[in-house]
Amino acid sequence: MRRPFSLALSLLALGLLTAAPVPAQPAPRAPAAPAETLRDPLFPGLGQAGLDVRHYDLHLTVSEPGTRAVRGVVTLTLASTRPLAQVRLDFLGPGVTAVRWNDRAVPFRVDERAAKLTVTPPAPLRPGTAARLTVEYAGTPGERADPDFPTPLLLGWQAVPAGDGRAGAIFLLSEPNGTHTFLPSNDHPSDKATFITRVTVPRGYVAAASGVEAGRVDAGGTSTFTFSQREPIPTYALGVFVDRFERVDGAAVPVGVGGRAVARRDYFPPGVPGTVREAFGRTDEALRVLAEWFGPYPFAAYGVAVVTPRLPALETATLSTLPLNMSTERVAVHELAHQWFGNAVTPAQWPDVWLSEGLAAYAELLWTEHLGGDGQAYAARWHANLTRAGTRPLAATRTGELFDLTTYQRGALTFHALRAEIGDAAFRDFLRAYVTRFSAGPGTVSTPAFLAFVRERAGAGAEGAVRRWVEERALPPLPVVR
Ligand code: TRP
Ligand code: ZN
Repeated sequence: MRRPFSLALSLLALGLLTAAPVPAQPAPRAPAAPAETLRDPLFPGLGQAGLDVRHYDLHLTVSEPGTRAVRGVVTLTLASTRPLAQVRLDFLGPGVTAVRWNDRAVPFRVDERAAKLTVTPPAPLRPGTAARLTVEYAGTPGERADPDFPTPLLLGWQAVPAGDGRAGAIFLLSEPNGTHTFLPSNDHPSDKATFITRVTVPRGYVAAASGVEAGRVDAGGTSTFTFSQREPIPTYALGVFVDRFERVDGAAVPVGVGGRAVARRDYFPPGVPGTVREAFGRTDEALRVLAEWFGPYPFAAYGVAVVTPRLPALETATLSTLPLNMSTERVAVHELAHQWFGNAVTPAQWPDVWLSEGLAAYAELLWTEHLGGDGQAYAARWHANLTRAGTRPLAATRTGELFDLTTYQRGALTFHALRAEIGDAAFRDFLRAYVTRFSAGPGTVSTPAFLAFVRERAGAGAEGAVRRWVEERALPPLPVVR
């Protein structure tokens, strides 16, 4: 696949402002040894070792969609796997105005360069105990340049200015590390959490977020929408949207765990072309087809929110973010597949992201076959692309490799190789067992854990075949599935 978009124009249109300076608060006592990060090979500064955020209860107030201004109050439910004298969250966001630990004010410090908010609790957080950490903030979200996309895509909080008779809008585009531009968080995929997201907007606007809608309250000139994301998701997959959306509800599709209903809703901005709506006309069918291959759909709702700037699409949980320019059926199916691979089964570290992109791309091939198309020809095109462009072992060793051709197309061919090795029925069983196994517990998968699982389920021969695709520098020959 080519890099599917060009960003320069849209970024000018985003009208991003400079981050407001964050007032530094002197810490009252000397800090202990600096907390360890999660030591991600590609993002060594992210996260805090030993910290486990269970839940984010977030209230955002957007008074003027189209500007970047926002107010936030978030209460994190914290646990830990080791005693923590300080909690050190990723945060590049608006100015912090108050921090409370179990409802009592506590000292805090913002280090803008490190993008950390450090909080000192009255007593260390210990394993087996939980705490509630509340952060209030207001101002302008931080600016985080995407380390991967060469064009200057700013990750995280996105504001679309009003203009041409259009109202302003807000959405997020956070993968891999943009969520902490507006939310104090343990912003690493290994620490998944549940979310309640409340969004207050001026009356007439519609807010949406990951999860199922749990009510709307109109008061004064505002509306407050509440969403509950009850299954844990990685921080980068949180979706929040504000626009004068038209919400289109469909009948629930019974492909959830245990045959449960998956609520269906899509959000379209005013004046969206019919061709864009058409791209999402077969979502119910795609849910059924992918649930056949991957097992039950892992969340309580699915749909898309369409946004207008020219940007990449993103698999925001339960509600994928689809820019107009990416609104095709192929991309729609790709983002849907990420709900299983990415959101339910999440890369343990960033070099493991090929497991998400490879399977999301593979879903495009499965969909092609469902439509009566030639999946083997689809795979052959990927192979030709990689032969032409060159390739590498699958685990990314620098950020520029995270979302390159190898991640998507060699990643996908790795699953084609497994299918060629074991046959369709066993491949389907494998994918279903893989989702069951790695969506449980921490809900993450590493490349070595994946290889071990291939060996366990499909045997040493299959593992050897897959390992060539994962580890060798050279491109293995095209696998053939008949
Ligand atoms: N995960 C996205 C997809 O393929 C691609 C992506 C990676 C992205 N980083 C991003 C999208 C940053 C938006 C912003 O579906
Ligand atoms: Zn993808």
